[in-house]
Amino acid sequence: MNSASSPISSVPAAGAICEACGRFEAVRMGDRLLCPECISVAGSCCPEFGAWDAWSSKTGVAPRSDTTESRSPGQNPPGASTLCIHAGTHHEARIGGACSPIFTSTAYAFPNPANENIYPRYFNTPNQQVIARKVAALEKGEAAVVFGSGMAAISTLLLAHLKPGDHAIFQNDLYGGTVQFINRELTRLGVEVSWGADAAEFATVVRPETRLIYVESPSNPLLRCVDLAAVAALGRHHAVLTFVDNTFATPINQNPLGYGFDAVVHSATKYLNGHSDVNAGVVVGAAELIRRVMAGAVNFGGMLDAHACSQLERGLKTLAIRVQRHNENALALARFLQTHPAVARVNYPGLPDHSTHALAARQMRGFGGMLSFELRDPAQVDRMMSRLRVIMPALSLGGVESLICVPSRTSHRTMSPAERQRAGISDGLVRLSVGIEEIEDLWKDFEQALATESITRNPHSAAP
Ligand SMILES: Cc1ncc(COP(=O)(O)O)c(C=O)c1O
Repeated sequence: MNSASSPISSVPAAGAICEACGRFEAVRMGDRLLCPECISVAGSCCPEFGAWDAWSSKTGVAPRSDTTESRSPGQNPPGASTLCIHAGTHHEARIGGACSPIFTSTAYAFPNPANENIYPRYFNTPNQQVIARKVAALEKGEAAVVFGSGMAAISTLLLAHLKPGDHAIFQNDLYGGTVQFINRELTRLGVEVSWGADAAEFATVVRPETRLIYVESPSNPLLRCVDLAAVAALGRHHAVLTFVDNTFATPINQNPLGYGFDAVVHSATKYLNGHSDVNAGVVVGAAELIRRVMAGAVNFGGMLDAHACSQLERGLKTLAIRVQRHNENALALARFLQTHPAVARVNYPGLPDHSTHALAARQMRGFGGMLSFELRDPAQVDRMMSRLRVIMPALSLGGVESLICVPSRTSHRTMSPAERQRAGISDGLVRLSVGIEEIEDLWKDFEQALATESITRNPHSAAP
């Protein structure tokens, strides 16, 4: 990499051009000369060669196939944690550092082996590509592009595919910022929109001008799941694109591309980074779709800088192990709250009485770290929030720390009361992002925050 300033932790390797992709300096891999990009894991970075093969020959680990059944005996596909740690890393061959160097340059020499203009707002710098390859590998997509926020990813994905006169279908209960973008920007640009709850409702509003269907599963903040296979099949039937916000599920719990979705979008600010200290977004899909998204992204400009990419890369390395703990804690806390006398209703897809539990059990590998609930007396919400000691009242979600908020006043406050009512979001609904603290400390925090003279603990409660 010939850049105007040196990477922080290493210097670029000198040598031959990669025989697989014709880019960057190559190192010898058996009888081949490959660049660090192609030695990395994701297939997206090098369709000419198939980077899986390169990684396999380096590590002796066979590539993961899409289904367990299609694996031949004796293969040992990398698991989620292995991908989180190793996929996409920019290996610096000369020094051999374990971590991708940070390439701070905004100017890269031209011409270069790829004959490509490398520039942060072109979404093609080494650190941006590390994230793209890692998330593409985790979502089992061909390619990905990283943005400066989840909303930059969502808005660019939608604007890249819609023009005045087009029609788009959206799920009722989406993240409030997405709803605001649809209502204030898409409609202003002459895009017609329809809303629905599930594939059956979407089917009734499809028109010849319909370009795409957009869903969130589980949804924010009611944790409703949509049938991903049914929505993707509907899209295919009508030649309509299908997009899904997979932020709440994470690629550890769910891979929508495997159900036939065309694109997955993430607010990487949440679980992918996981430490409440980076704002970022990612779109994953087929190489052709990502090329189209990047063509729009260059004009909209919502890129992520190298330092933030590096911080996000570090966060991603522990995604699988964090999500496993989020899943465990959220299920335990949902069961606890469900039996608490002060709580009227808990929304968590892992509870058997949740409206989409069976669906979640079918299409998710874990039920996620998000839940929401309503108190029997909505007037007690502020009192409870002010008495919590471990759980922090705050906007956002997906970090290691437990965060609690009232969606009607935070994430969904820009929606009108009528829109909130249509989405089923009451003013007393509380959303909880369950962190990875000790579960006993979270139980105790709710015990003391919900305690009143008049309410005593249910002696039949399963949880302590
Ligand atoms: C489900 C979901 N999607 C997208 C976003 C937007 O992400 P960002 O804040 O990174 O722009 C959020 C933010 O809370 C979200 O919860």
